[in-house]
Amino acid sequence: MNRLLIVGAGGQGKVVLDCAKLMKSFDEIHFLDDNKIGEEILGHPVIGKIADLESLRGDYQNAFVAIGNNSYRLQLIEEIEAMTYNVPILIHPTAIISEYAEIGSGTIILPGAILNAGCKVGKGVIVNTSALIEHDCYIGDGVHLSPTAKMGGEVTIGEKTWVCIGATIINRIKIGSNCLIAAGAVVIHDVLSKESVYGIPAKKKK
Ligand SMILES: CC(C)(COP(=O)(O)OP(=O)(O)OC[C@H]1O[C@@H](n2cnc3c(N)ncnc32)[C@H](O)[C@@H]1OP(=O)(O)O)[C@@H](O)C(=O)NCCC(=O)NCCS
Repeated sequence: MNRLLIVGAGGQGKVVLDCAKLMKSFDEIHFLDDNKIGEEILGHPVIGKIADLESLRGDYQNAFVAIGNNSYRLQLIEEIEAMTYNVPILIHPTAIISEYAEIGSGTIILPGAILNAGCKVGKGVIVNTSALIEHDCYIGDGVHLSPTAKMGGEVTIGEKTWVCIGATIINRIKIGSNCLIAAGAVVIHDVLSKESVYGIPAKKKK
């Protein structure tokens, strides 16, 4: 039996379950969530809490972290890999992925997303519904690209940055780590690490 544990049974957990089922790679899928033990999520049981990962390793080969917080998601992936779980890459069947794209473990590519040639997407990244990653982009570990976010060619996004829904980053822009790019922003200048930018063109708040 090839079993998968999804860590986190909230909204992201549902999306991960849906994608994992469509891939038809797993015989059984169960959840872990400290606050939902005993519940069923879309017909799949929450069998324990996150601290149970270590003791469940004998029964489950695969674990995937479905937690929206970028830092916590990345930290948990590293802990799970250290426990020797396989941390898969999940790709929705409607996503379009170049054969020349690279994708790290624990990353999910959701419905309608496009990854073009030469892009490198790190570990624990969420490439959400209909997000676009153009050619030669570099997307760091733990990044979240929200639905319909668009990266032009050769864009760099540093680790754990959150690009919110509908934001557009024009080609060759460099965005640092732990940034927030607000919904609908159009980024035409580089953004330093830890900065938040909003609007068109995207700027820091005064
Ligand atoms: C950026 C965001 C996360 C809020 O960030 P925040 O800095 O905590 O924002 P606040 O709500 O405290 O608002 C701070 C200011 O920014 C403004 N602001 C918030 N979001 C903005 C946006 N997307 N564009 C322009 N201005 C925005 C607010 O009006 C407020 O302005 P004011 O100080 O003049 O009143 C949020 O607005 C956003 O874009 N959410 C989208 C989340 C998303 O993509 N979800 C999909 C997940 S799948």
